[in-house]
Amino acid sequence: MQRVLPDGVAERIATAGRVVVFTGAGISAESGVPTFRDALTGLWSRFDAYELATPEAFEADPALVWGWYEWRRAAVRKAEPNAGHVAAAALQALVPGTVVVTQNVDDLHERAGSKDPVHLHGSLFAPRCVAGHPFDAPSGDDDVPDDLGPVPPPRCTACGALVRPGVVWFGEALPRAAFTAAVEAASSCDVLLSIGTSGVVYPAAELPVVATRSGATVIQVNPDETPLDDICDVNLRGTAARLLPALYAEVKEVTAGGR
Ligand code: APR
Repeated sequence: MQRVLPDGVAERIATAGRVVVFTGAGISAESGVPTFRDALTGLWSRFDAYELATPEAFEADPALVWGWYEWRRAAVRKAEPNAGHVAAAALQALVPGTVVVTQNVDDLHERAGSKDPVHLHGSLFAPRCVAGHPFDAPSGDDDVPDDLGPVPPPRCTACGALVRPGVVWFGEALPRAAFTAAVEAASSCDVLLSIGTSGVVYPAAELPVVATRSGATVIQVNPDETPLDDICDVNLRGTAARLLPALYAEVKEVTAGGR
């Protein structure tokens, strides 16, 4: 397999006490899950984020917002983890102390075998009512509509309040435990891999900066330039599904004493 890492970097990852795999929508792009900001294909070029991904939007039109997230859930259910997700899970198994921290609300890291990924922006599969009660989607939930359209949200079985998607909307705070765990991991890691994120949404985009300030080696995987380029020690230009398996193979070679 073609080498992708500069000299010494595979060794650095293989001998790291702690590695953070920090991911964004780009890692799921090759599974057919649209990113947010890619021109034309990105969700935000087709839909108005402020009409669909804010608490105000949900208050104004719960059925429009719930329907949109049901549509996204249907798309993720049909998707399969790609070689990028699989390589991230394999790296976690190979290098103990590897933590996956994701901005993604899909479950492709889990389906690829990653252990306890930290979801900074929530999950499409963890709805709760507006009062905070977790909502157990009734069985038969599998027939999620895959055509886009308003769907009235269900009511909480505990308090009768409206059920909302378990994601972080613009203007909302990140789940405290998840963000605290992510900052802790980034400030104590030896290596942070930033994969498929545009690095423009805060506070998540702060994590690679926290890592580099703590002396970690920061490696970016992205086909395009991002604002993170300047703080990264290594910028690998290409897709996650192509570059992550190659990166993993090089680290594995080192751990197997092959180098
Ligand atoms: N492999 C790797 N990177 C890719 C690929 C790929 N196959 N395809 C696209 N990318 C890159 C793009 O170049 C871009 O830099 O992934 C990035 C995706 O950026 P965004 O669409 O902005 O997604 P993300 O960074 O995850 O967005 C952050 O913004 O909309 C909110 O809450 C949402 O979690 C999301 C947050």
